[in-house]
Amino acid sequence: MTKVEIALPGQADADAVALPVAQPLGGDGATIVEEKLGGRLAKLLESGELRGERGDTVLLHLNGELEAPRLVAAGVGKREEVDADALRTAGATTAQALARVGGTLVWLLDESLPVALPAQAAALVEGTILGAYSPGRWKAKDEARAPERIVVGHGSDPEIQAAVERAAIVAERANRARDLSNMPPNELTPHTLGEKAQELAREHEHLKCEVLATKVLDELGMGALTAVGRGSRNEPRLIVLRYDPPGARDDIQLGLVGKSITFDAGGISIKPSGGMQDMKGDMAGGAGTLHGIGALAALGAPVRAIAALAAAENLPGGDAFRPGDILRAANGKTIEVINTDAEGRLVLADALWYVRREGATHVLDLATLTGAMELALGDLYAGAFANDEQWRDLIVEAGRRSGDLVWPLPLHPRYRRYIDSAFADMKNGSTLRQGSPALAAEFLHEFAGDGPWCHVDMAGPAFLERSRGDYLRVPGGTGYGVRLIAELGRLVA
Ligand code: BES
Ligand code: MN
Ligand code: ZN
Repeated sequence: MTKVEIALPGQADADAVALPVAQPLGGDGATIVEEKLGGRLAKLLESGELRGERGDTVLLHLNGELEAPRLVAAGVGKREEVDADALRTAGATTAQALARVGGTLVWLLDESLPVALPAQAAALVEGTILGAYSPGRWKAKDEARAPERIVVGHGSDPEIQAAVERAAIVAERANRARDLSNMPPNELTPHTLGEKAQELAREHEHLKCEVLATKVLDELGMGALTAVGRGSRNEPRLIVLRYDPPGARDDIQLGLVGKSITFDAGGISIKPSGGMQDMKGDMAGGAGTLHGIGALAALGAPVRAIAALAAAENLPGGDAFRPGDILRAANGKTIEVINTDAEGRLVLADALWYVRREGATHVLDLATLTGAMELALGDLYAGAFANDEQWRDLIVEAGRRSGDLVWPLPLHPRYRRYIDSAFADMKNGSTLRQGSPALAAEFLHEFAGDGPWCHVDMAGPAFLERSRGDYLRVPGGTGYGVRLIAELGRLVA
């Protein structure tokens, strides 16, 4: 865990000093540094080595000119366009530039940027922690080092202090969610995911965890969740966490539901083998949900929440569910299986019902639900479908503020007929090769109960095949959902 502090730059005993460099060059940090370095930054800009563009970072080794042996000049682009995203990216590229250094990093702030100092410091810290993340945990020796200590170079200031503490907590939690997504499916099963949830609950006084296994799921009538899990010896689980802090308002309970398919081979409707390894990330919704509610607890957010992770492994096997099967979900509705690869909506159906039964007033589900969502919006935005515009707008706003971006998409009753079944109340897929994210959302709608509900299809931004070029610079899980839920907690509290 990276320690985060606030102190005057000279007092920090730094291994590196970093400063955001905007175009044109200027601002407090740069001016002081330029004086001490005899105008070296300007010369580097002139020579074209340093550009000050977003994500463009130069590492300089010093010889006593500053109180640190290294300086990172981290580009943030045009001065008037600098925003949290540019600063997070600068944080991340700086962390990568210092991946062989570790140690203490001091960030200089720049009062002349159009981002207020607390938000500026928070974005730099967040980006540094996210950017220092290494997915190489399973290597014999992972050489990448994260800074042990980040110091925000500023005199004591309670607002900046609170902002960076919060940013560090949320970013660390996002990295823990990335760890879960990156865990190989032979290590992370529904059972071990349940253990991780129990460990997390033990870290927080007001967070409780309960793991429901097959027998209880059968008693609850969760025929959709259990069907998906039947092809694997790693049996399904419904992993439930309850966050009940003192002093929370009692008219709201967030219901957070996460698709947690620890591996999605597609089942009998098996997927093509190319790229199938990335389907270990099909539990990213659950990872975001788990560490999202963990972040609420760590931050002491005064809002009650229940999280349900619908965990199963979708494999073909002698006892696997099949196309043609008719399932009965916990809410009594029947589902004809058309495609066992449309498993996400099945496990979510029972989890949505469960959080409503447990009193959730405002429901948000996070799911890597449809490949078409990734085709439509790429790896940046998730799509949001909701039965309540106000609730959806709040989630879009939480996304805008946090960086876990969300874009609204339509639910419409006319989509419903494409999942009409001749035999059952609905079917889980359609032969129509159009609008699959919307059809999936319409399916979930049948299980969302009364009250605000928003479905976030995060198939794109959950798990990267390559660097995104911003503050997410390595392949694998992104921790999507953690920052969203943490911000949502702030907006509803
Ligand atoms: N987990 C997949 C969706 C997915 C694909 C997420 C690629 C991330 C990247 C989901 O379970 C799935 O297989 N969806 C199918 C649904 C279809 C069979 C109706 C899809 O989108 O192709
Ligand atoms: Mn699938
Ligand atoms: Zn899936």
